[in-house]
Amino acid sequence: MDNSMVNIKKKIKELSNEVKRHNELYYTKGVPEISDAAYDSLIRELKGLEKEYPEYEFKDSPTQLVGAPIPDKFSKVEHTSPMLSLESVNDEDGAYRFDESCRKETGGPVDYICEMKLDGISIELVYENGRFLRGSTRGNGLVGEDVTLNLKTIKNIPERLKIKDPPGLIAVRGEIMMHLKDFNNLNKQQVKDGKDPFANPRNVVAGSMRQLDYRITAGRKLHVYCYRILTYSEEMPPTQKEALSLMEKMGFTVSPKATYCAGMEDAILYHHRLEEERDALDYEIDGVVIKANKLEVQKKLGMRTTNPKWAVAYKFKACKEVTRVEDIVVQVGRTGVLTPLAFLQSVDISGVTVSRATLHNMDQVKRLGIKIGDYVKVERAGDVIPYISEVLKGKRTGKEKSFKMPGECPSCGASVEKSDVFYRCPAGLTCPAQIKESITHYVSKDAVDIEGFSDKTVSQLFDNGLIKSAADIYCLKKGELLSLPGWKEKKTENLLKAIEESRTIALDRFIFALGIRNVGKHIAKVLAKKFGTLEKVASAKEEDFTEIDEIGPEIARGILAFFKEKHNMSVIHKLGENGVKITKLKKVPEGKLEGKKFVFTGSLIQVTRSEAERRVEEAGGMVSSGVGPSVDIVVAGEKAGSKLDEAKKHGIKIIDEESFIKMLKS
Ligand code: IVH
Repeated sequence: MDNSMVNIKKKIKELSNEVKRHNELYYTKGVPEISDAAYDSLIRELKGLEKEYPEYEFKDSPTQLVGAPIPDKFSKVEHTSPMLSLESVNDEDGAYRFDESCRKETGGPVDYICEMKLDGISIELVYENGRFLRGSTRGNGLVGEDVTLNLKTIKNIPERLKIKDPPGLIAVRGEIMMHLKDFNNLNKQQVKDGKDPFANPRNVVAGSMRQLDYRITAGRKLHVYCYRILTYSEEMPPTQKEALSLMEKMGFTVSPKATYCAGMEDAILYHHRLEEERDALDYEIDGVVIKANKLEVQKKLGMRTTNPKWAVAYKFKACKEVTRVEDIVVQVGRTGVLTPLAFLQSVDISGVTVSRATLHNMDQVKRLGIKIGDYVKVERAGDVIPYISEVLKGKRTGKEKSFKMPGECPSCGASVEKSDVFYRCPAGLTCPAQIKESITHYVSKDAVDIEGFSDKTVSQLFDNGLIKSAADIYCLKKGELLSLPGWKEKKTENLLKAIEESRTIALDRFIFALGIRNVGKHIAKVLAKKFGTLEKVASAKEEDFTEIDEIGPEIARGILAFFKEKHNMSVIHKLGENGVKITKLKKVPEGKLEGKKFVFTGSLIQVTRSEAERRVEEAGGMVSSGVGPSVDIVVAGEKAGSKLDEAKKHGIKIIDEESFIKMLKS
């Protein structure tokens, strides 16, 4: 390649990166840096060069997506093979009956692959000569809707297959999912924007696939997990196990935790183990799918009209129960927003007692039409806060009472103000509820992390006049605590010890702990990295903030307003006077843990789990709850459980606590 060619290749790469950066700013962060016209001109330049020099077009060029016209409806597409559904069973007997019929029809023992039954939206992805051609929803199983543009916004759908000699045709089936962390963040934003929260991640995914404007889908963080080869121009792999490996080799993210089971006993154990792990996962599953492993067996067993005879869905216990609303009370949040909260007759939902559910805002109360005394359906899943999905209006007796937002703050009596769908107490830090919430935030796990300092403790200490702000925490005396009901020697000592240990705080955590509006963990880290000291953050100007990629004018104004407030500055001074020391972000040699994903299993001896997780994040790494192909290192403590087996199966690097500590120090 001569010099001018090298330059053109470089130019295409640079332009492509620049467009991607602007996409991220526009779609994901909502803070565009350049005008639409300037953006269009970048795209035009890139497209022009790619057309002239097709040999240099990068696989993942943003021109693959950008500029595609927004359709006014989805076109229908026929699937390459029917997308079948599954018959389900609810108990061990059902699973054994399925096994029995498999063995009877094939005349021998049957081995299985067990996978999680992912609760998302099923899609087909078609690749021609290794290039992503088309993707569609399941529809009626034979014909679905072409949602290619929406699917192209999903990062883990490969644009090109990652193998040397791709097949002429391959179509795979997978499930589009939204992780619970992203779902909770999206809902927080919805509520902040005065919009209704989404009921569950599956609804968000379904809604995202139905978007005609793919730019909206691009702003949602979706993932696909593939679990079946539907059509293949080469010879089909002889087992489901090999089909999964092949898909993984091609660059698909396959259904995590798929496990080989020699017989139904093992498959049932897999089901029970998964049911226990379910709440720790970052996505929703509603059962396991048991599939005959051998293709030959699958063929022999054949299918019914819409279900294969070689697979079954073994469902988990329902996550939905009916209970009664005993009361609806108003909670005052850290920023004064009034939130209605339903107090429920306690109910066990798949092993967890639920007695409250947030109603988010008045719009939600109206949308559900909920009254005190109503019977309601309550759902919960993983990390998602329990929510009321339906009011059973047929069960009403006529004695139910409507709920109205109070005109005065239930905590301080100030007149409530209304803007959009929000009702807000304007009293700020003269309102006891808001002070308590801000102290609770200060001591919370992601902030200063004082173990044993629950919201109930904050309330008790505040109500008894022992603390008036976060700074007073550091002046608590043993005698004062012991004089309160429920405080014995051990509990008191533990809390004082935890407070003592929290006197030295990393700058990013301290910034987050202050509770500045719109400054979450991530922005706090960005501020700490950029400014280095709290004084510099406090004295910065609006433009010092907005010149940072992630910070828009709204966040900047929130920070400025916070440091302008005298009361806030006086709490910060008092914290300093009372011995709080702020440390800089710990710098670990560049690239050490940068971008590395960790999973912890078993108990650690030298550090607590949360301390270990914090150290990984401080060094640029990430922590995940489940073991999957994207995990780099599993740290196995004592009595490590099933995650260790998973890691071994996936060939993931496993280290012990000792090596982990060394890794942090090196
Ligand atoms: S296999 C013939 N595997 O469950 C094979 N399905 O009705 C049919 N699902 O609509 C599908 N996780 O969306 C299969 N690991 C998994 C799955 C899975 C979730 C969904 C799929 C389907 C529904 C069953």
